Amino acid sequence: MPQRLPPPTPWMPLALAAAIGAAPASLFALAASVGMLDPIVATVGALAAGAAAVTLGWLWQRDIARLTAALKAAEAGEAIAALPFLPPLKRIAEASARLASGLRQRGVEAAANADAAVRIVARLPDPLAVLGADAQPVALNPAARALLGVDGADLAALLRNPALRSAVDRALAGAGPQTAEITLPVPIERELLAQAILLDPPLADGGRLLLVLSDRTRERRLEQMRADFVANASHELRTPLTSLIGFIETLLGPAADDREAQARFLPIMAEQASRMGRLIEDLLSLSRIELTEHTPPTAELDIAVLARRSAEALGPRLAARRLTLDLTAEEGLPHIVGDADQLSQVLGNLLDNAVKYGREGGRIGLALRRDGPGGEKARRRAGVAVAVSDDGAGIPRLHIPRLTERFYRVDAARSRAVGGTGLGLAIVKHIVNRHRGVLEIESEEGHGSTFTVWLPAAVQAEPR
Ligand SMILES: Nc1ncnc2c1ncn2[C@@H]1O[C@H](COP(=O)(O)OP(=O)(O)O)[C@@H](O)[C@H]1O
Ligand SMILES: [Mg+2]
Repeated sequence: MPQRLPPPTPWMPLALAAAIGAAPASLFALAASVGMLDPIVATVGALAAGAAAVTLGWLWQRDIARLTAALKAAEAGEAIAALPFLPPLKRIAEASARLASGLRQRGVEAAANADAAVRIVARLPDPLAVLGADAQPVALNPAARALLGVDGADLAALLRNPALRSAVDRALAGAGPQTAEITLPVPIERELLAQAILLDPPLADGGRLLLVLSDRTRERRLEQMRADFVANASHELRTPLTSLIGFIETLLGPAADDREAQARFLPIMAEQASRMGRLIEDLLSLSRIELTEHTPPTAELDIAVLARRSAEALGPRLAARRLTLDLTAEEGLPHIVGDADQLSQVLGNLLDNAVKYGREGGRIGLALRRDGPGGEKARRRAGVAVAVSDDGAGIPRLHIPRLTERFYRVDAARSRAVGGTGLGLAIVKHIVNRHRGVLEIESEEGHGSTFTVWLPAAVQAEPR
């Protein structure tokens, strides 16, 4: 608090001036009395000295009042109305005005900085919770609210987690940044990594600790999927390999001279070897497609031409199962942007499934029509829908959402018996994703299945 100056008393400077003025005046009087000065001159001199003293006294009084007003104005942040006349007082008034405005500016900046820190924390994209020195929540940013429920209801539960609690306590005690891995069991299980960072100095809103929460659920699931994939792939390869080794040992040992056994074993061995070959082929395909999945294709092509070629390639396999293939293509289909090799693989894999899982002696449909994603009712975007249908046993509803998972098969034994790897539809899905397309699977048990791939039309070919 600045000290208040005592109000100036108007008579004091005047009395002081009179006293100061009286001294030279009395000197004039003394000089006149001893005859050193003419009495008239002495009187004029005494009056002049008195007038000068009074003027000076008045000036002082006014300047002190102005200085007082200037200091008050500086304190209140107002402009100075009138500066003192005497130069030293004038400089004091000006300097105090500058000092006050500098201090005020710094105060404004400090407040803005403190607010900025609070706002920055609120806007960071990661889920963040700010805790006070008592480890109680002070604020949650929108990302944390999305993760922990609108009112952060789950945060209270989270803060009761012993691992997190001790990380928070250690960070608050100044042990540096701490981390804790936690699992939120409800409402859906989530894996979180929490980092507790001490805020030093504290935030303007009292925040003392920053809790950064990263949702690791997806990452964990991907890690799990990768591990499962490696395990599945190894298992799929090991089975035919074990059987091949068994046959080789038998042929080298007990059946070395048994022509009949050789004739029986060799075709099985050939089938096991080609099964391994198909599997490796599909695994390589998958990894190649994954590499290109983030760069969409650029070439323009006529999907009807590819469809005709794929249908022709089926020829002998159709005959083996006495199947009929109906290929229908709407007139004037737009061109699409795509990778011809990959789309041939999509058609090949879907037709292969229709041949393998369709009804012996049944019909396979390959129909191309102009459509939007989601069928007839959703013609939002121009494109081509390619539907591969069969009239086989169909697929039970509960399996449909998982068919595109790697190695997922409704009936693994049946799939193996017909030479399947369990990777065909996973490959289809990745290729369709790369083409920014949509894969839809419909099936009615006992009546057959329809796999529809929708591919967006090339921009130039959009209907006007
Ligand atoms: N047209 C179909 N009819 C019935 N089931 C099918 C059809 N297409 C695929 N499936 C089921 O989906 C599973 C996965 O298909 P896919 O990924 O192509 O593997 P694969 O054909 O090598 O077994 C198949 O094992 C089969 O159970
Ligand atoms: Mg298949």
